[in-house]
Amino acid sequence: MLYYSRRHHDQKEDKQHAPTITTTTTTLSPPYPTQPIRGRERYRVMMDIRRLDVANWLTVDQNYLAEHAIRSQLLAQEKSKVLQCLPESLDGCYEALEEVVDFLNHRFGQVFVTTGEKQTIHNTITGETFSYGPENKANALEVAVRLTMEDLSILMTNEDGEYYLAASASLFPVGWTVDERIGWTIARLHSPVPLWQQQVANSVSKFLSRLTTTSPMERSNYFVEVRRPDENLLETLYRPQGLSEEALDPTAHEIIIRRERQTFRRLPRTGAILFGVKTVLTTLDELPDAELRNFAREMKSWPEYVGEYKGYPVWGKKVLEYCSLKNIEV
Ligand code: HEM
Repeated sequence: MLYYSRRHHDQKEDKQHAPTITTTTTTLSPPYPTQPIRGRERYRVMMDIRRLDVANWLTVDQNYLAEHAIRSQLLAQEKSKVLQCLPESLDGCYEALEEVVDFLNHRFGQVFVTTGEKQTIHNTITGETFSYGPENKANALEVAVRLTMEDLSILMTNEDGEYYLAASASLFPVGWTVDERIGWTIARLHSPVPLWQQQVANSVSKFLSRLTTTSPMERSNYFVEVRRPDENLLETLYRPQGLSEEALDPTAHEIIIRRERQTFRRLPRTGAILFGVKTVLTTLDELPDAELRNFAREMKSWPEYVGEYKGYPVWGKKVLEYCSLKNIEV
């Protein structure tokens, strides 16, 4: 069996010491480097978008097998919570699958082998084969996220011209599940986020409507999460209840910087937006000193209500203690 039941406290060891996975012809690399935390001293909700690194739209790294096993488990046990497609999104989901298959086959051709005629894709890491022909339209988004490490969503416009979540396979969510929020507009999805409406809502609407097929974009986001000492990787990645539990007294190895690399692509045929999210976990004690200092600086800039949303009362003091233990001046 694959190692999804392995306890998460082994994960640091996995990342640092485990041999990289070698398939017959391919060596899987460490995760795509995340955007470093910049250390902004004045808090603002930022769009912070830049051009997509198109050669790395989707990634396949050394955590593939472990995360793939969790994705399969969630799709088997919690399918309606992690995957929903409204009827009007099916063409977009199918186009998304075609794009995913094409990209993976070209970029990671030794891992993902296609047979043009039969329209199947074979994954040499897991041994699975999926059909991507039109007869599989109803399952297209599911097949796509069984191949990728990224969560994928389809955004469409409603009669008011607002973007809404028309389909989503979000296996690694924080504080929400797809079945609760399918059909919500982007503005409503962000209603719990402090200052979203005031500082960024209009720019995000403009950005989404101006996105073209030739201007794909990406951005990064981070959350801070606390894991229980006995927590497994599934529980850390699938976080429908939110980030932290009040009663915890976390160590630096139990505080996790949870980064999301988000990508935005306009699909040429249907005109829908394909939104991708890759989650990468780094424990506080893995952060380089400069980034730890930047993180602590950003954290200190948060107004109290922003800190509360982000879970500061649970881990903030611990982060500052850890910085002084390492003689890092904030
Ligand atoms: C340029 C586009 C976007 C920006 C600037 C943005 C920004 C943000 C920010 C700042 C947060 C709060 C993170 C934190 O500080 O803890 C957030 C949370 C969130 N975002 Fe976005 N986001 C964008 C696009 C999207 C899209 C397309 C979706 C669709 C699935 C989405 C879904 C969410 C959800 C579900 C949350 C959690 C809200 C909660 O606390 O319940 N975001 N986003």
